Amino acid sequence: MNLELQTLSWAQAASFKTDALVVLVSKAAKLETGLIANMLAQAEKSGDFSSAAGQCMLWWKPPGLNALRLVLVGVGEGRATDVRTGVTAAINALKKSKTASVTLCLSAQVAEHLVVAAQAAADATYVYTATKPSAKALSIDKVVLGVPSASAAKADFALAQAQVAGVALAREWGNRPANHATPNHLAQAAKQLAKHARVSCEVLGLKEVERLGMGSFAAVSQGSAQPLRFIVLHYKGAAATQAPVVLVGKGITFDTGGISLKPGPGMDEMKFDMCGAASVLGTFEALAHLKPSLNVVGLIPACENMPGGKALKPGDVVTSMSGQTIEILNTDAEGRLVLCDALTYAKRFKPRAVIDIATLTGACVIALGHLRSGLYATDEALAAQLLAAGEQSLDLCWRMPLDDEYAEGLKSNFADVANVADRSAGSVTAAKFLQRFTKDYPWAHLDIAGSAWKSGAAKGATGRPVPSLLAYLMAQTPLADKPAKRSAKTATKRR
Ligand code: BES
Ligand code: MN
Ligand code: ZN
Repeated sequence: MNLELQTLSWAQAASFKTDALVVLVSKAAKLETGLIANMLAQAEKSGDFSSAAGQCMLWWKPPGLNALRLVLVGVGEGRATDVRTGVTAAINALKKSKTASVTLCLSAQVAEHLVVAAQAAADATYVYTATKPSAKALSIDKVVLGVPSASAAKADFALAQAQVAGVALAREWGNRPANHATPNHLAQAAKQLAKHARVSCEVLGLKEVERLGMGSFAAVSQGSAQPLRFIVLHYKGAAATQAPVVLVGKGITFDTGGISLKPGPGMDEMKFDMCGAASVLGTFEALAHLKPSLNVVGLIPACENMPGGKALKPGDVVTSMSGQTIEILNTDAEGRLVLCDALTYAKRFKPRAVIDIATLTGACVIALGHLRSGLYATDEALAAQLLAAGEQSLDLCWRMPLDDEYAEGLKSNFADVANVADRSAGSVTAAKFLQRFTKDYPWAHLDIAGSAWKSGAAKGATGRPVPSLLAYLMAQTPLADKPAKRSAKTATKRR
């Protein structure tokens, strides 16, 4: 997606040459004057248009305008969610046409939602082509963001570009089928990222993983013909003395359940079981664009979970890198088994915070559906920062509990811990399992099983939670770095 920033009032928009001009109309938009304002007034008077969020009206060759198409779209009160609804509806209305470039005109009332508008446009125009190149023919590949002052929007525009690129990368890797997104493919993608300044990458194979004592991670992989990869990414934007944030992404490139085999229907969706890993790759892509003064480490334990003659069996006991032994009662609870060793590995970076991101439990989907990711945290400040980052970027999460009583069911007669408890509170007991490996640093866990992809006709990865991870990280940078050289007034009413 090509994004451009442009100073564009409604009056200037009338003479702006573009395939499609999309004008966002909030309830306060009546203040505008000129040709477009007159058209709006007439359309509203005749009852053809209202500024309710998502209401669209489309003209072809609108008289007096330089644009080939004009879309007026309502954005209601002009809140961030209204802007997202409006931009999505407008782009969808243009999809049937041969539109290659779209210009969004954001008036002063909604210009503060530039990042949201850009992301909504990018999401609505995204086309998966890796294994379906024919889909490319019908795509909008350029979006111009028109705002009252391009210079005032510069920092937000930089964030928009970075976030859009990061989400696109996460969606791309999430969507690729498992035979086109093996652990080795993910490692190659990470190495590509290392071509950016400040980013470096190291990939470990089975030998090194075994030498590190990652018996739990290696055990999940042992039934697969695809070799595992442990991917270590570094983003170095600050002095080496500055403690990094570590992001850990679950990278199960396909989850059959193993010997505790999953049922057939819908199993294809377990190609998305590496969306946590994809979100780490996407976040690094965005960091490479924004270059904040921060240190970030990305860890991705990547492997398949397969049945077979060499596969792990229910009842097997493995030894994790932490030294704790684990009784594997269900081979389908594999995410926690790969994450626990990555969480132990994270210790060596003396991190200021560790956040793992995982499509961990079906139970989290039952609890929170597809809107909010599950957030678990052992540190109040970290929890508050992630919740705020989610609200700011419209990539929501919800705090879940970590009471010790929830860990009761993880007791084992044959190992230090079992990998599953009974069915109740399944997302919480998974988090309690992980927590045993995170005693040395502030830790948060995002269960993205419900938010990382969509099923049904819109089946595909969402790129979440790249927006909130990025918002969280950018809020960690020294003040001078922040994409806000804006006044205190606009800063407080942002999004
Ligand atoms: N990757 C799945 C979780 C999942 C399932 C995400 C469905 C989204 C939709 C994970 O590895 C898994 O299989 N979890 C089990 C845990 C259970 C065996 C305790 C689950 O949720 O059923
Ligand atoms: Mn599983
Ligand atoms: Zn899984």
